[in-house]
Amino acid sequence: MADKKPFFITTPIYYVNAAPHLGTAYCTILCDVQARYRRASGYDVKFLTGMDEHGEKVEEAARNHGMQPQEWCDSQAPLFKDLWKTLEISNDDFIRTTEPRQVKAVQYLWERMKESGYLYKGSYDGWYCVPEETYFTETQVSKSDEANHTEGQHLCPDCGRPLERVQEESYFFKLSAFQDRLLKLYEEHPDFVQPDFRMNEVRSFVEGGLQDLSVSRTSFDWGIKVPFDEKHVTYVWFDALLNYMTAVGYGQDGPEAAAELAYRWPAQYHVVGKDIIRFHCIIWPAMLMAIGAALPEHVFAHGFLMVRNEQTGKGEKMSKSRGNAIAPQDVIDMLGVEGYRYYFMTDVVHGEDSAISFDRMEQVYNADLANSWGNLVSRSLNMSAKYFDGKTPQLDEGWASKDNPLRTVAQGIAARYAQHMDKLQYVQAKDVVMELVHAANHYIEDTAPWAVAKDPARAGELKDIIVNLLESIRICAHLLAPFMPTTSAEVLRRMSLGDEVDTCDLAAACEWGQLKGGLPVTKGDALFPRLAKAKK
Ligand code: MSP
Repeated sequence: MADKKPFFITTPIYYVNAAPHLGTAYCTILCDVQARYRRASGYDVKFLTGMDEHGEKVEEAARNHGMQPQEWCDSQAPLFKDLWKTLEISNDDFIRTTEPRQVKAVQYLWERMKESGYLYKGSYDGWYCVPEETYFTETQVSKSDEANHTEGQHLCPDCGRPLERVQEESYFFKLSAFQDRLLKLYEEHPDFVQPDFRMNEVRSFVEGGLQDLSVSRTSFDWGIKVPFDEKHVTYVWFDALLNYMTAVGYGQDGPEAAAELAYRWPAQYHVVGKDIIRFHCIIWPAMLMAIGAALPEHVFAHGFLMVRNEQTGKGEKMSKSRGNAIAPQDVIDMLGVEGYRYYFMTDVVHGEDSAISFDRMEQVYNADLANSWGNLVSRSLNMSAKYFDGKTPQLDEGWASKDNPLRTVAQGIAARYAQHMDKLQYVQAKDVVMELVHAANHYIEDTAPWAVAKDPARAGELKDIIVNLLESIRICAHLLAPFMPTTSAEVLRRMSLGDEVDTCDLAAACEWGQLKGGLPVTKGDALFPRLAKAKK
């Protein structure tokens, strides 16, 4: 641990009002790829995910299922945990906001807030959106009403669903006092919010002025009690945001928790959907400023997954109510887990909204995985086994410094890939790897090893060709491992390089010249059997 740099990455904690879906899985895989990449790059990673269990929305879901809230949450936890396991999510921790550690941390936070002077008691009279667990002011609501031409019923300006009128005693957090400090934060740390264009949205919201935030509720009780005023329960977002610090020791007893907090906090990345950036880029930093804690380094906001409407050709937000939601299992059945991960991570631009479709999934899978990567591996391993007696070729002295087109493409590849991976630009990182995959496939066509093999006088040439191919495959397997860990491990094992799986020095592993030769090689089954027809 001592010589490694800490890297702490988090997903949002998911509401347990419904089963996990493609959107939540998308965000979780996005973090998983980053966590795996950082571990391979020598970081001491903590990757956190979990469930957001309090609030009216969850209480309502429990009621609809005839269960007590806790019983309902307990019944939902395995759905999330099982799906993450199936999708090869390598989280180091899974937090639930009903756990004792969270209750302790939230109550500790209340005491610190009270001391800070940024807390006061008042009464809230306004609007509340239960599906979004968000307050709205009279002005925000009436503006949206004009736009929606509604009569009688007030609708949520964000999601369009009916709002609840709330009138209750409440504690308020003086969010309004943080406007200047937040603007200074955005000014001094322009990469606090990523991608860039999301920063503008956050900044202009803060420039428009901030209202104090109601942070406790008295009209219902599914939440963490305010320690000094037990008829109040904590507003679900005030509770939820703190999970990130609870998981690294905040508010817990003992020197170990304090050491963990000092080591792990602040987080390097909070990855969230674009709908919850205000909570993460305005409220959360203000809460941290109020208690004198360090701020997270980056909040990365991804867009929504949209489904292409085959009639209009336009993307529509995927949702259960539209009847266009795709279940993760349907995609797994079609692409397999690794194909699923590859498609969502390398074809869906992180940041923008993105239209997904089964047609496109099939295209990407067949083009990149079946025809390019899978085919390269099976042809090359097959030729190695066939021409070199079931083995990889014995390597000659100085082989690694011989000039050849693949070595040229592989030069500096890890650095080019890292530039993109560091910024969660997976589409571009994949392009860097695919350049080598495509070059290797062309190299096979150009050099025609099957013809070279017929002429014993060209044995040296044949050996060079196969070695160059295997070395390229070895490097690509490392670079693709964060996306498709099982396939990469399998490829390395087929070349008897299993000891390289789970490297923690990716850059060194991707240097040309690390191949070990003269070892058993197996072609094995096709890694990505071609898909015949898209599922509709
Ligand atoms: N519980 C809060 C987060 C608290 S974090 C301190 C919450 N939960 S959620 O379950 O409603 O949403 C979790 C994440 O899923 C959000 O980041 C949201 O953007 C994401 N997605 C929900 N639907 C989505 C798509 N269709 N596409 C991509 N992600 C979307 O908000």
